Amino acid sequence: MTAIRQPPLTDSFGRLHDNLRISVTDRCNIRCTYCMPETGVPFTPHGEILTYEEIERFVRVAVTLGVDKVRVTGGEPLVRRDLPELIARLAAVPGIRDMALTTNGVLLDRFAEPLYAAGLRRLNVHLDTLDRQRFIEIARRDELERVLAGLDAAKRAGFVNIKLNAVAVKNLVEPDIVPLAQFARRNGFEVRYIEFMPLDAQNLWDRGKVLLADDILAVLAREIAPLHPVPDPDPRAPASEYAFADGVGRVGMIASVSRPFCGNCNRIRLTSDGKLRYCLFALEEDDVKGLLRSGAPDAEIAAAIRRNLAGKWAGHEINSARFVAPPRPMYAIGG
Ligand code: 5AD
Ligand code: SF4
Repeated sequence: MTAIRQPPLTDSFGRLHDNLRISVTDRCNIRCTYCMPETGVPFTPHGEILTYEEIERFVRVAVTLGVDKVRVTGGEPLVRRDLPELIARLAAVPGIRDMALTTNGVLLDRFAEPLYAAGLRRLNVHLDTLDRQRFIEIARRDELERVLAGLDAAKRAGFVNIKLNAVAVKNLVEPDIVPLAQFARRNGFEVRYIEFMPLDAQNLWDRGKVLLADDILAVLAREIAPLHPVPDPDPRAPASEYAFADGVGRVGMIASVSRPFCGNCNRIRLTSDGKLRYCLFALEEDDVKGLLRSGAPDAEIAAAIRRNLAGKWAGHEINSARFVAPPRPMYAIGG
């Protein structure tokens, strides 16, 4: 059956939404301080998590609304059984032009090859530090060696332009900024610094704990080489890109706090338990799992997506006194 194309997904501010982030699990095999508590994480029971069939069906409907980019996230997506099977299913959906995976890399040594074989070409690997003790301090698990092995395996499997995600938390990651950037330059990776956002499970965030993009840029320029902004091929992507003046490599800044990019947002989100979210920080969500499980026709799923998007706000209010952190932390939403 050929899907019929619908009018594009536009919100009340005229922003076109063609980018879907799919969280496939809220579980994780490490415990980054700015995301999860150390113990007692209330994970969603398996039966409440969308199956791969359900996710694929949802994506097929989203494509009829103009979605052509998907990113698979978690929790940690590789702890979900047979993730390459989902990747292969999504790669086979006509209309998907771009597919990416965000992972912490711990299981990448085992999965890099099958993921590539399944059709994945874009990888973001979370990495804050190259120092084993500091990794343990930040992620509360001793997994640095496996992440590094995973990055090697990814290169060998054929992945290029691998991005490293580092979260910019003040008084935590400063010692790692320069070594991480140098490591990336040596290996052909690009570091993306993500300003710490109020999405941590323990509500530890405050503005004073955000290491700002400009401060990171100043350190890199002073310690490594001057940096020049490079025009972004996709102005709706959250990262601003900078190239080192010596010609070796780039860094990206995701300055959600100091330079919010909501005006260009093109993203909608599906959580692992089948809720639609028009923003990372949304306080409300709409259920689609019930629709998927009760045999609702595609049109009803499409209508739920439009209804959810219709409520989308102009942008987050992190910088205002009105801001209320969402009840779900990052691991239960998907970055
Ligand atoms: N603020 C900013 N980024 C975060 N991440 C996790 N928690 C936070 C937070 N509180 C990032 C991780 C992960 C990506 C999905 O989100 O780097 O790679
Ligand atoms: Fe989009 Fe929300 Fe992120 Fe802003 S904060 S860019 S609206 S997802």
